[in-house]
This record gives sequence, structure tokens and C-alpha cells, in this order.
Amino acid sequence: MFGNFSYCNPTKLYFGDDALKYLNVELPKYGKNVVLIYGGGSIKKNGIYDDVVKILADNGKDVAEISGVMPNPTVDKLREGVEIARQHKADLLLAVGGGSVCDYAKAVSVSVNCDEDPWEKYYIRFEEPACEIVPVGCVLTMVGTGSEMNAGAVITNPHTHQKIGHVFADEKIMPKFSILNPQYTMALPHYQMVAGIYDIFNHICEQYFSGEDNNVSDYLSEGLMRSVIEASRIANQNPQDYEARSNLMWAATWALNTLLSRGKSTDWMVHMIGQSVGAYTDATHGMTLAAVSLPYYRHILPYGLEKFKRFAVNVWGVDPAGKTDEQAALEGLTALEGWMRELGLVMNISDLGATEDMIEGIADGTIILTGGYKVPNREEIIQILKESLK
Ligand code: NZQ
Ligand code: ZN
Repeated sequence: MFGNFSYCNPTKLYFGDDALKYLNVELPKYGKNVVLIYGGGSIKKNGIYDDVVKILADNGKDVAEISGVMPNPTVDKLREGVEIARQHKADLLLAVGGGSVCDYAKAVSVSVNCDEDPWEKYYIRFEEPACEIVPVGCVLTMVGTGSEMNAGAVITNPHTHQKIGHVFADEKIMPKFSILNPQYTMALPHYQMVAGIYDIFNHICEQYFSGEDNNVSDYLSEGLMRSVIEASRIANQNPQDYEARSNLMWAATWALNTLLSRGKSTDWMVHMIGQSVGAYTDATHGMTLAAVSLPYYRHILPYGLEKFKRFAVNVWGVDPAGKTDEQAALEGLTALEGWMRELGLVMNISDLGATEDMIEGIADGTIILTGGYKVPNREEIIQILKESLK
């Protein structure tokens, strides 16, 4: 049944090879004190840092920096950043980087004016902020997470082997603006590019394979998936193809900017298992999803047979004539596997550093959500993880 919902997405986007100049339009809307947040240094190598710093100076901003935000940002780094933003009395948090940097900026934004420990409040108790939120803007350099236009912020606690995402309910936590220049993504190492591509694809799958569907979302999802497959093949051959990189960047935003999930249930169990693998291995997010996806989908296929058949036909062009529903559906997953191997994705968790003795811990760290065709129990998650080890 078509579910009831509200919809509001306040993030302003600037897209294109000249998008950074619009920082000049956005910066005057905020006070003088800006905290510039970035990762391990890629933006210094490719010149984005210099361009951003110049625009900040031209606009008379007083800038403090939080650098070294790692992929899968940690709770310790979060606490450190909250202190810097407090001391600087931040009027704006400007994230320049991938999903990790954008997520991190959002986590800082809800913690600066809050007395409680952010991990306990937002990642254990899943509370919403009751304090004033510091605005966030993003300059995106890596495509995949959709963090540029959503209210998600994933933080890892390496002390407890937990990697937890909080998708905040309040759209105020979404970035106020995001700057999307597809050219910035061209310097990404192949490994990161394809991990991001699979992240996009899997975000769509998580919202497509679920208990309660609606046809608008299904057709939007199928169109997005087809466009990701097509663009990924071009970018995989020629990473400098601007059209393909633009299609990927735009598809990534729409794959997880709250549109597809309206009026329907969603699953997210591949992400839950993948995140727990990430908590144990610190592996690249998209690769953790790739490594557990096929065992998961083969496991739930009998419970969502009709949709898996639709996926095979509408996304992969499988001809169902003369086949049972199961045969057609399985052919879709075979096509998915072929594409994943073509891109060079990591297909098992052993290659990400997971070992047999971690399986129980990973299963215990997996948050079980209830939106999918079959809510897995602990034994099923262990079985899926064992399949993913091979
Ligand atoms: O740190 P630097 O030096 O910048 O290097 C980064 C990093 O090592 C590098 N990189 C980024 N842009 C680059 C570049 N290298 C060269 N050229 C460029 N233009 O790429 C590496 C990975 O960056 P990261 O930000 O970690 O990747 P991604 O965008 O995949 O973000 C992953 C994080 O987002 C979370 C994940 O769990 C993970 O913590 N997610 C956030 C979501 C959300 N907000 O809704 C949903 C996702 O499912 C995901 O869970
Ligand atoms: Zn993801």
C-alpha cells in the first residue's frame, strides 16, 4: 500500500564544472567564522584546497581547520572536531571531501552546542538534537554516499567495533548547500571510484527490494540503476569522461536524498551487515557492501521473488520467456554479479581483512532492521557472512 509521508529537501545544489564559484553566493549568508573540514590531503594535491581557501579569504572569513578526517570517521575525531568548532565559535562548517568528511561535518554540527557526549546521544540512544545546529555546506570530491543532500552521518567507534549511521529526522541537518563538480571526481583512484559506484547502486537496491513498494519509486529506481550501469561502464573504461562522471554524480545524489524511500518501506540490511564488517576491518564502505550483497540477495530472493524477477527484466534486460520466475530472478543476480566483477569490486569479506573468528562479532554488531522481505535473525546473518567469506 502507498504509505503516507512528508517531503522536504532544503539543500541547495550547484552542479557543473564552474560550481565552486557559487561559494561566493553562499558564504555571505553566514557569519565570519568558518571551520574548513577536510580529509587526508587529496584536496591539497588536486588544488581544490587552494581554490576554496582563496574564496574564503576573498569573502573575509576567519577560518579554522579540521584536517585529517579519515574514511569511516571515528568518534575520537568527532570529539576533537567539536572542540575546534566550539573554540572558533563556528558560524559555518564547510566540508570539502567525500561522504566521510560531509558526514563528519554533520555530526559536529549537531554536537557543538550540545553538552552531552555525541556518541552516546546520537549513536547509542539515537536522539535528535535539542540544541542549535551549526550550518553545514559541502564541496563534494567523491561520489557515492549521497551525504551531500541527506541528513545521514555515519560514525565509527573503533573501541567497541561499532559503525553506526544516524539518519537524522530533522531536515535542518541536511547541508544548506552542496557544490558538485564532476571534474573533482576524476582524480579518484579506481578503487574508490568503483566502490562509490557500487554504493550508489546499493542505495537504490536497499530502497527497491523491500516489503511495501510503490510504482513511482520502482520506476525511478530502475531508471537510476540503468543509468548507473551505463555510466559506470564508460567511466571504468575512460575515467576522464565528463558525461559519465556527471551522470554518476547526479545519480548518487538522487539515490539517497530521501526521494526514493517516500511512501514505501526500505530494507538496508546490506548496509547494516557491511557497516559491521567495516567496524572490524575499516574497509572502504562501498567494498563492504559489494562483498556481502550477493549472499544476502540470494538468501532473500525466495521471499521477494516477484521483485527480483522485475529487477532482472527491467534493469538487466533478462527475457523471462520460457523461464520460471526463480530462473529469471536468478539470472538478474547473475547479471549483477557479472557487472560487479567487470568493475573490479571486492567480492568477499576475506579480501577486506575479515576472518572466520570475527564472524560472530560482526553478526552481533549488525543492527537488524525490519523493512525487508525477510527480517534476518542472528543465525541467518552468520550464514550470510560465512558465504561472504568465500
Ligand atoms: O581523505 P582524502 O585524502 O580526501 O582521501 C579520500 C579518502 O581516502 C579519497 N578521496 C576523496 N575525494 C578524492 C579522493 N582521492 C582523490 N581524489 C579525490 N577527488 O577517497 C577516500 C574515501 O573517501 P570517503 O569520504 O571515505 O568516501 P565515501 O564518499 O565513500 O564516504 C564513506 C563514508 O560515508 C558513509 C560510509 O559509511 C563511510 O563512513 N556513508 C554515509 C551515508 C550518508 N551520509 O547517507 C550513506 C552511505 O551508505 C555511507 O554509509
Ligand atoms: Zn552506502
